[in-house]
Amino acid sequence: MIAAVLDALVEPALLLDGEGRVALANRAAQDKLGVWIVGRSHVSVLRQPALLGPVGEALVRQVPGHARFIHSAGEVETPFDVAITPVAEGQVLLVFRDVSDTQAGQSMRRDFVANVSHELKTPLAALSGFIETMQGTARNDAPARERFLALMSREVARMDRLVSDLLSLSRVEEQSRRRPTATVDFSPLAREAAATLRPGAEASGVAIALDCPPAAPMAGDRDQLMQVLTNLIGNAVKYGARPGAVEVAIASVDRDPVIRGPAWRLSVADHGPGIAPEHLPRLTERFYRIDTGRSRKQGGTGLGLAIVKHIVNRHRGRLRIDSVEGRGTIVTVLFPALS
Ligand SMILES: Nc1ncnc2c1ncn2[C@@H]1O[C@H](COP(=O)(O)OP(=O)(O)OP(=O)(O)O)[C@@H](O)[C@H]1O
Ligand SMILES: [Mg+2]
Repeated sequence: MIAAVLDALVEPALLLDGEGRVALANRAAQDKLGVWIVGRSHVSVLRQPALLGPVGEALVRQVPGHARFIHSAGEVETPFDVAITPVAEGQVLLVFRDVSDTQAGQSMRRDFVANVSHELKTPLAALSGFIETMQGTARNDAPARERFLALMSREVARMDRLVSDLLSLSRVEEQSRRRPTATVDFSPLAREAAATLRPGAEASGVAIALDCPPAAPMAGDRDQLMQVLTNLIGNAVKYGARPGAVEVAIASVDRDPVIRGPAWRLSVADHGPGIAPEHLPRLTERFYRIDTGRSRKQGGTGLGLAIVKHIVNRHRGRLRIDSVEGRGTIVTVLFPALS
């Protein structure tokens, strides 16, 4: 009866008898720790002092507890939180909960906070430097003050951009499970994005060419689709060749096997230096930049592609980045089309 109950648990579980031997090991525990453990002393099975201490306490004094257990299989280490519960007649029940996801989540959050703080520290340090100079040496120097004010407003703009990017990232993350319901025409959005970015691009010698169908209806969030277009075209302009050309196209795909239906394929191509293969899988990580200095100079925060990826996921689309070093980069996004 108890064996059947333990087998029904997804988590590995062990029942120790009053002598500290493994009386029962459910299927999950036998999978993780081996079938040989039944009948053995828990000391030879568990081996880790961090766990043996509290288990000993439970066996001797019937006190419940918690402990950490690390299971290693080859290179992979899985952390478990073990709930230690004395049950009837000196027996002790151990239930192992896999906490690798929560741990990964915590370390991601720590990295994220560290990155945000670092990104904010740079403009803040610059601002406090300017303030100090204006209070000191530049106090009575009007032209210098003007120059510093212009530099300060650039730093403030950078912080402003960072904060808005963070807000939009957290907004898309929050909505990630809610599919957009509005019907949007993707074509005019692409025209609008290209028209908005064209003056800046042309000023730095980059021509933006656009090829899209008269209409491209899809279920989508207009502002978010605009963000996708702006960041991808913006990246091609910023990191492509100068002078150079950027080609933006929307094409219809009859049936995409991954989307499982008709789709719109947006492609943004540049002819810049391209991206080395080792960077490709990491580009959509928050704050990941290949050349941090170059990106910063252009006002980049490294959040653009992370936001794009979330938006594409929310729209049940696909994002793909292909690049040949020395030739250029093509970013392709597939969105399910309204059929
Ligand atoms: N078309 C491209 N060609 C070469 N490198 C690119 C291209 N697009 C993106 N990258 C690289 O990927 C990095 C991440 O891009 P992402 O859009 O996430 O950030 P960003 O452009 O630096 O900042 P933001 O988009 O927040 O202004 C860039 O810093 C750049 O190094
Ligand atoms: Mg960008």
